[in-house]
Amino acid sequence: MTHEPPLGDRPRAPVNPHVPHPARIYDYLLGGKDHYAADRAAADETVRRAPQVRESARENRAWMRRAVRYLVGQGVRQFLDIGTGIPTSPNLHEVAQRISPDCRVVYTDNDPVVLAHARALLSSSAEGRTAYVQADLRRPEQILQARALWETLDRDRPVALMLSAVLHFVRDEEEPGRIVAAFRDALPPGSWLALSHTTNDIQPRQAADAAAVYGERRAAAPMVPRPLREVEAFFDGFDVVEPGVVQLPLWHPDGPVRPRLLDEVWLYGGVGRLSGG
Ligand SMILES: C[S@@+](CC[C@H](N)C(=O)[O-])C[C@H]1O[C@@H](n2cnc3c(N)ncnc32)[C@H](O)[C@@H]1O
Repeated sequence: MTHEPPLGDRPRAPVNPHVPHPARIYDYLLGGKDHYAADRAAADETVRRAPQVRESARENRAWMRRAVRYLVGQGVRQFLDIGTGIPTSPNLHEVAQRISPDCRVVYTDNDPVVLAHARALLSSSAEGRTAYVQADLRRPEQILQARALWETLDRDRPVALMLSAVLHFVRDEEEPGRIVAAFRDALPPGSWLALSHTTNDIQPRQAADAAAVYGERRAAAPMVPRPLREVEAFFDGFDVVEPGVVQLPLWHPDGPVRPRLLDEVWLYGGVGRLSGG
């Protein structure tokens, strides 16, 4: 008998190749294979306006892996990863389960192209578990009420909520702070938040110019870079660990940080633990 892993609670949506999608743009920037001409054109235009965008994408992926290793080191064994992206090895569960095979991961994305590749995210170790939920971050209840979520994760044990390079696809009027708070309030005591986010602090004019490509090309989501204080505000209700919310290369680096990277990586990241938990 074959075992169907849980793919989530929502039907499959069609993939539109003519609309640039953040997941496919990011995949292209990372050197992946899952993108269409519209995605490549948008990504190339972004790189033309801000040539270091590729480096930023790679650094974001490296930060995600460092944050996961840190969290497993703190005893975390459960992850809710929202805005997963097209699978790129090593995926989150591979990083976590390499250290502790019993780790459980629920992946979520709203892009049908990610769903189409979700099998690669379901290659859990025998001791751990993974699941995929097709849902939109802007409707937290969609995710929090998904059957696969609490069938996979234990409600009584801490969960690390991963929001890696996804909140900058949420407009101010969609209230990203309210969205993070909705997840925060549903997390078990002792849970964590790991978040990275594009910023306009380093080169404001160039960042705005590059982000504008998403609007000009009518991408599936806008790109909203934010200043440090707004990114820090997403950690409301969490105690942020050292070194705070910083440019990604400075967050628990594996080795010496090349100074050039600080000009090139226009993303902040941080990790916090639920206050009072
Ligand atoms: C830049 S990729 C980041 C992938 C991965 N988290 C990482 O850091 O490597 C952003 C992902 O967020 C997803 N995304 C954007 N808006 C979303 C939303 N409203 N709900 C769920 N996922 C969303 C995109 O489809 C894309 O896969």
